[in-house]
Amino acid sequence: MEPGKLIVFEGVDGTGKSTQIGLLKQYLEKLGKKVVTSFEPTRGEWGMRVRAAAASGQRLSVQEEVECLLRDRREHVERLILPALAEGQWALLDRYYPSMMAYQGATGEDVSEIRRRNEEFAPAPDLAFWLDIPVQEALRRVQSRGQGRDAFEQADFLQAVARIYGAMDMPWWRRIPADGEVQETQALIRREIDACL
Ligand code: TYD
Repeated sequence: MEPGKLIVFEGVDGTGKSTQIGLLKQYLEKLGKKVVTSFEPTRGEWGMRVRAAAASGQRLSVQEEVECLLRDRREHVERLILPALAEGQWALLDRYYPSMMAYQGATGEDVSEIRRRNEEFAPAPDLAFWLDIPVQEALRRVQSRGQGRDAFEQADFLQAVARIYGAMDMPWWRRIPADGEVQETQALIRREIDACL
């Protein structure tokens, strides 16, 4: 059996992560791969706690966010990610621990310490795509979807998030310019995927 692969999509909201994940899933399934898609924070107890706080505009303290999100990720790794990889599936994730490096990092936590704590239990991705568009453009897209801004979506904060994404240099990290056509972005992603088939 071929080994499974862990593919992660990152970027601020409004960059088109879910569209690109859907298109990549179709592509991989045509190639005969088994694909599972998922996202973080999950809809489990710990993930919902963080989502509810952000939606109400009142964030938890950054330490509480880190602890809840680590618990959420630990469950996700044990229940979904590791079993999928063990069965030779491709797991496509909308956010994973680079989100914690960027978002909780932008709130003042030490980015390398966050990475270290995650890598104690979370397998590193085979590839992570950072869908990069200007923050102002991402905010326009989110607003035109009619979604309000939650506490994670203020412009200054997102600029800090984008700066941390921009400074990441893990061997599996790929910047994908994502302000063009959907299919152009997908072509850039497939080129990277083809190289790891
Ligand atoms: P998001 O992808 O916006 O979920 P949805 O669009 O389905 O509501 O995720 C919610 C927020 O969680 C997002 O703004 C980033 C934040 N987040 C963190 O701050 N740290 C993390 O480790 C993760 C996974 C997400």
